This record gives sequence, structure tokens and C-alpha cells, in this order.
Amino acid sequence: MQRRTDQSATVSPAQLLTHCPDNPEISLPEADEASGGPGILDVARRLVCFTAIVGARPNFVKMAPILQEAGRRSGFQRRFIHTGQHYSPEMSASFFDELGMPAPDVNLEIGSGSHAAQTAGVMLGLEAELSEHRPDLVLVAGDVNSTMAAALVASKLGIPVAHIEAGLRSFDRRMPEETNRLVTDVLSDYLFASEPSGVTNLVAEGVPREKIFLVGNVMIDTLMKFRDKAAQTGILDRLGIGSKGYAVATLHRPSNVDGMEHLLSLVGMLTELSRHLPVVFPVHPRTRERMEEAGIADCGLILTEPLGYLEFLRLTSEARMVLTDSGGIQEETTILQVPCLTMRENTERPITVEQGTNRLVGTDSKDILRAALDTLDAPPRLLPPPDLWDGKASGRILDILERSLGGDCGR
Ligand code: UD1
Repeated sequence: MQRRTDQSATVSPAQLLTHCPDNPEISLPEADEASGGPGILDVARRLVCFTAIVGARPNFVKMAPILQEAGRRSGFQRRFIHTGQHYSPEMSASFFDELGMPAPDVNLEIGSGSHAAQTAGVMLGLEAELSEHRPDLVLVAGDVNSTMAAALVASKLGIPVAHIEAGLRSFDRRMPEETNRLVTDVLSDYLFASEPSGVTNLVAEGVPREKIFLVGNVMIDTLMKFRDKAAQTGILDRLGIGSKGYAVATLHRPSNVDGMEHLLSLVGMLTELSRHLPVVFPVHPRTRERMEEAGIADCGLILTEPLGYLEFLRLTSEARMVLTDSGGIQEETTILQVPCLTMRENTERPITVEQGTNRLVGTDSKDILRAALDTLDAPPRLLPPPDLWDGKASGRILDILERSLGGDCGR
């Protein structure tokens, strides 16, 4: 793709870094009224054509507010692609319905497979799609295989890439997501960080400062928008539990569920905890498969299918504590002010520990149980939410793109 040559009407990311409404990190140039030259408002009127790509459950939650906000603005034209990495109704369609997302223009239907098969499937499908409909920008979010595959294809086609949730690092290459984050960030032209550690990590890796924007957390945009609606779901009644009278557990990381002995030990720990407090355990398909292989059936937990967004949000909002190995749940519990015990050795989201309700408790069952019982006795201190986790992150991202990119689709 050729970038437009009319540079006078295009604002570079570097120019954006001096001030911006709602974000002291970002700055937008003023309109040049004296000269009558093109100011920021003129630039903003140009159409920006982007292709947003999603593949897995957390992507839907992050991209939904961007699509909605872009739909409200006249300056954007979008295409929307689902890679099909997640495909079961409860892992995909239910999120689209509940979050009010548009139907994708294309579903690549790549489905499950090895990392190589999944990545290659997305790349082949997207190469054709992006070659035919060359956007000004490809927008990806998070750290799943579809995110990295999309960034690779776009970059090789010469299409700028914007990464939402850039710069997060666990510094643990055993996590497939860490590879996905590193590759996506190195290929991205706009790196939108959700917390200050993201900016620090990217700068340390040598990413030019003018490509990095601290914009806040789009997942929290979605949480704030849907919190009231979630309160209307009947999930607590359906499960026969009351507010603050239960814990929620989720487990899906290969490192926690793929080894049978470790999985048995973690489920045993949850069973022990359930003697003190009922434990609701919505089971990810990967985990269900492994539990069946291990012969785990009646373990004293309240097992459910993977829940939709609204029911899960309601469930976590009212929980006494959450035990998880998910990334996004660490952030959601911080805003919901619900204690979160992360069953991992590290987190790529350190602000949730420093300034939220998150505590890293490792993966040893005895340690986790001890931490859970401690939490029952003494819940963590509550702190104000991280800066810019205020429901307005998607607006900031679109402001930056609108003011930085220009042009129409007629190439
Ligand atoms: C993926 C992401 C992970 C993210 C998680 C959120 C990667 C490397 N991992 O992990 O970062 O936290 O999504 O859920 O991209 N399956 C179904 N139905 C589906 C999807 C999956 O039954 O709709 C089952 C299949 O058996 C599949 C397994 O779950 O093999 C794993 O799915 P996959 O997309 O490979 O990874 P997740 O564990 O979901």
C-alpha cells in the first residue's frame, strides 16, 4: 500500500504527543487559525478506513467499544473480520449478541489447531482479505494467536498496524501469549498501552516514543458500559448463591490444565476451599477436555459451561473472591474491587497488583489455598482505579487515529 503523499494534511504520531483532552500523555496540535492552513479539525474530517480483526473471546470484549465508537463517528469506515479461532456459540456468538457487535464482514473459520496451524490459517485467509480491501490501518487487540498472525500479514503487505493493549510483558517466554505480544508490538506502528508498564517496556525495547500512546483500558470501557445490564441477569438465582457468598474460579492456561497431576491438584485445592465457601467454576472447553481425561466429575464445585459476558460480569462483581489464571479478569476485578488471586508466577499486568486487588499466588495448591483462606479473613485494601481506566479509552484511540491518518479508500 502506498501511504498518501499529501503530508501537509497528515498529522504524524510524533505531533500527537504533547497534549490531548483526558490524557496528559498525549497532545494534539491546534488548528492554525492565523494562517488558515489545515488544522486538526480539517484533518479529522478525512475518512479513515480500517480493518479490525478479532479471533478469541477476550478480543471481542476489547474491540466492541472501538467498533461502536467508530460507528458513531463520521470519520471512519470499517471492515470487521473474525478469524474464527473461537467458534463455539458460548465462546463467540453469545459475546457478539450481548456486546451488540456487528456481524463480521468475513469469518475465516480457522477453528482450533496447533499454534502453527492456527497462525498459518489466519495468515492465509487474511492475506487474501487485506489484499482485496486495502485499509489505511489494521487494528488488532491483545495477545492471542489471531492477533500476532494478523499483525504479520498486515505488516508484510505494508499496511500500518495499531495494537491495542501494547507493551504488556510477563517476561515468560513459556507463555505463547508473550511471543504473540513481542511479535505484534515489533510490527506495530501505533502502540496503545493500557497501563504505564506497557510504555516502560516498549521504550526499553527501543520502540520510538512517538509510536507509543498511553490511552487506558478498552476492556474497562466495556465493563463500565455493561455493568448495569449485567446486574439484571439472574445468574446468582440460577446457581442458588448470594452476593459475596461464593468464590469464582477460572482455569484455562495450558501450564495449569494440560498436566494431569497439576490439574488434579488445583481442582483438589478448589474442592478444599469449597468447604469454606461455595466455588463456582465456569469451565473452558480446553479444561473440560482435560478434566474428562483425568476422570474428574463430582468435585464439590458448582461447575458451569463457559458463561456469556453479562452473566460472568455479574458473577465476578458479586464474588467474595476470584481465583484465576486469566489476564483480563485481573483487570476486571481491580475495577470491581473484588479480591483476585492469580494462579500464576507472573503477570503482564503489574498495575493490578500495585494498585488493584490482584495478588500473585503462584501455582502450588497449598500456597493458593492458604492465600484464599487469608483473603476470607482479611480482604485486600481498596485503592482508586488506575489512571485512564475510566471508560473512555476507545475514544482516545480513535481521536489519535482520526487525527493522525487521512485519506479515502479509493486506491
Ligand atoms: C486462547 C488464547 C489465550 C486466551 C484464551 C481466552 C492463544 C494462544 N490463546 O486460548 O491467550 O486467554 O483464548 O479464552 O491464542 N475450543 C472450543 N471452542 C472454541 C474454542 C476453543 O471447544 O470456541 C477448545 C478446543 O478444544 C481448542 C481449545 O479449546 O483446541 C483451545 O482453544 P485455543 O483457541 O487454541 O486456545 P484457548 O485455550 O482458548
